[in-house]
Amino acid sequence: MRTLTKLSRTAPDTAPASGQPTQVDDASACARQDQDGHNKGDGPLAREARETRANGAGTAQAHESAIKHVTGRAAYIDDIPAPADALHVALGFSPVAHGRLTRLDLEAVKRAPGVVDVVTVVDVPGHTDIGPVFPGDPLFVDDEISYLGQTLFAVAATSYKAARLAVREVVVEIDEQPASLDPVASAEHGDVVRPTHVQERGDWQAALAGAAFTLEGEQFVGGQEHFYLEGQACLVTPTEDEGVVVYTSNQHPSETQKLVAEVLDIPFHAVTVETRRMGGGFGGKETQASPWACIAALVARRTGRAARLRLPRAEDMRATGKRHPFHNRYRLGFDARGVLAGGDITVIGDCGYSPDLSEAVVDRAMFHADNAYSLGEARVTGHRARTHTASNTAFRGFGGPQGMMIIEQAMDDIARHVGEDPLTVRKRNLYRAERDVTHYGQTVDQHPLMSELIERLETSSDYWQRREAITAFNATSPIIKKGLALTPVKFGISFTAKHLNQAGALLHVYTDGSVIINHGGTEMGQGLHTKVCQVVARELGLDTRRVRITATRTDKVPNTSPTAASSGADLNGMAARDAAGQLRERLFDFAAEHYQIDREGMRLEDGELVAFNRRIPWGELVQAAYLGRVSLSAKGFYSTPLIHYDRETGKGRPFYYYAHGAAVSEVEVDTLSGEYRLTRVDILHDVGDSLNPAIDIGQVEGGFIQGMGWLTSEELKWNAKGRLISDGPATYKIPAFGDQPAVFNVELLEGHPNSQASIYRSKAVGEPPFMLGMSVWSALRDALASLADYRVCPRLDTPATPERVLMAAEALRRDGAPAAAQETQHDLA
Ligand code: MTE
Ligand code: HPA
Ligand code: MOS
Repeated sequence: MRTLTKLSRTAPDTAPASGQPTQVDDASACARQDQDGHNKGDGPLAREARETRANGAGTAQAHESAIKHVTGRAAYIDDIPAPADALHVALGFSPVAHGRLTRLDLEAVKRAPGVVDVVTVVDVPGHTDIGPVFPGDPLFVDDEISYLGQTLFAVAATSYKAARLAVREVVVEIDEQPASLDPVASAEHGDVVRPTHVQERGDWQAALAGAAFTLEGEQFVGGQEHFYLEGQACLVTPTEDEGVVVYTSNQHPSETQKLVAEVLDIPFHAVTVETRRMGGGFGGKETQASPWACIAALVARRTGRAARLRLPRAEDMRATGKRHPFHNRYRLGFDARGVLAGGDITVIGDCGYSPDLSEAVVDRAMFHADNAYSLGEARVTGHRARTHTASNTAFRGFGGPQGMMIIEQAMDDIARHVGEDPLTVRKRNLYRAERDVTHYGQTVDQHPLMSELIERLETSSDYWQRREAITAFNATSPIIKKGLALTPVKFGISFTAKHLNQAGALLHVYTDGSVIINHGGTEMGQGLHTKVCQVVARELGLDTRRVRITATRTDKVPNTSPTAASSGADLNGMAARDAAGQLRERLFDFAAEHYQIDREGMRLEDGELVAFNRRIPWGELVQAAYLGRVSLSAKGFYSTPLIHYDRETGKGRPFYYYAHGAAVSEVEVDTLSGEYRLTRVDILHDVGDSLNPAIDIGQVEGGFIQGMGWLTSEELKWNAKGRLISDGPATYKIPAFGDQPAVFNVELLEGHPNSQASIYRSKAVGEPPFMLGMSVWSALRDALASLADYRVCPRLDTPATPERVLMAAEALRRDGAPAAAQETQHDLA
């Protein structure tokens, strides 16, 4: 509170003009003072990084909105002032998971106080199906109801409360049918939202038959609620023609523009979509921000008034899709050292009621069923099961994490089988020379990096000394058992839908020398705008304070891809660089002629054009160029080279490159209650040559914690009728401050620029660290395995809640390998 008061005194509501950074610095100094002594650990903090003077790409720098975030001055959708007569929209949702809508009586709703408009499917002038890639997502239920929480109708009223109260007046009659909630049964019956896809390399059957050992296992990997802090929200204002302006918390403005236009039956150019920032997206706003924008746009067009729509948390959780839960199976053959010969992996994604992005999500799960290991001769099969729940969607990692889980389970299981430490077996199976081609035919060129990264982490985390200490501890500690695990991550970067790998940018320089950059990516907290500003600053030799970024808008940069697949900085950074490069070359041409100086060796540096024995300040150069009638605006474009994937053959090079990382987690488990603590985490992560180490470390920390939450405490529960019962923070547990590991060492791998020509040889960082959370799950299995003398590894479905950990411990004590069980019982007595 104190910080806020101080800041509001020193800093005005409007953001300081570019070139006058003093107010921000004052504010930041206050914030820093207040934080003194409150932060533990010695990792670099974004706040400290502000001290860095040279702040182009490659340097640690605070998030472009950091001060605004912490002082409450960053505007989210609900902070945007709406006209006084703006309407508030509330939605009526299906109360059952499956059935036919036989009566929808809205008379009382229409008569309720404050109600201005009520909309159902019959009021939609254009498309009623807003499926993003494939059809299947009705804007409003027509007759078939496919999940509990599906939208039946919308009410627009003069206040939010009036709209919500009016919704309750509806009379619905539904011919309810049994809900199908078992994805495995769906897959078996062929009830799928998209056809099954197979990737196959070599003779996997022969490999299995010829292997010295074979092992099989299965697992359930739970879903995950996005739990973005800002829920789904939008504000739509009608324009003077037939159009609308849509302000939306959204990862994919261009798709929303298209869908709104199609729903209203107007041209795309009549719809402008703007996104300044999201309070988190995590994939949940890639496709699923659109329905709300379409509905609010419908209301705005019908009434001629602005319309606000925001979902309360419980409704947001029920109506929108989540990370896909998966049921995975493996049957793998290996030798006495635990090295894979080959085998068969099947993944079944629970897609919910419609395709949404599930084709690509399950593909990505399949592409990552190898994680960092050569599977040998293998077949990977992916099913897209239909169930009567909300349509599951993108979520950080996009199916990749769920696919990786099966091979990480196999690594632990195989290690116990051959009597080796799981790390030893993991290392033996890493991609290496001669074993460097994936099951989908892509060559893993940076495999030495992965091996080096693991070795460095092994050393820096004292893996083997701690292993010894833990084994000794467990031998004498009957109830509390410690576990340790190192798990790697290799994550493919690029959209697997090739056409999405493109981006545009628009750059303007004004006559005072200030620069505006706009690009197709959206900001959701990940620091994309900061990185793109840094790119432009570096290309133009300016301080980042002279470069401002504006809200993402479909009328500035058109036909954009979603900000997803971790590719935001790779794609938009390159497009911005292209624009800045064009402008720079134009200025060089102009300067050569205007100042009669040699164009060779000219550069832009520290706010000046530097040429042989001549320095011209940036502002002066820009002024002169303007007077010389040179365009000070440029648009840039980029498309990723080299990538392709043939779905017919299941072969190609879908990824431009891979990002790598590894984590070591140590846990302490109370085997009588199942409760556990994460005591130490060490991470080494590969971001190539970092665009901004401060932001990248933040992404690694945040990603790890979110991944840990997915695998440990975040449990989605539906009742037998298909109603989500974990629909708020009281019943759905995301990690809290207290869940942070006591020791948390995060480091970026230095000295390994991207082998591909990405933006300044950096690597994408948004999603890959999420999967480092697997080390916590594996460490829990390690602790549990100690109960059976490390001879077997218990099945541990996720989330590995204390309840599941306890059940696994009990099962081991009951049925574990006899010798181990005896020893364990003796220990516990
Ligand atoms: N970080 C924050 N703070 N908030 C988010 O919503 N989304 C993640 C990741 N990091 C997210 C985040 C996801 S799902 C993706 S795909 C990337 O950011 C997208 O941004 P990028 O491509 O610019 O890395
Ligand atoms: N990742 C994330 N989002 C996506 C992808 C992908 O590969 N394809 C389409 N949307
Ligand atoms: Mo991220 S799941 O690709 O939005």
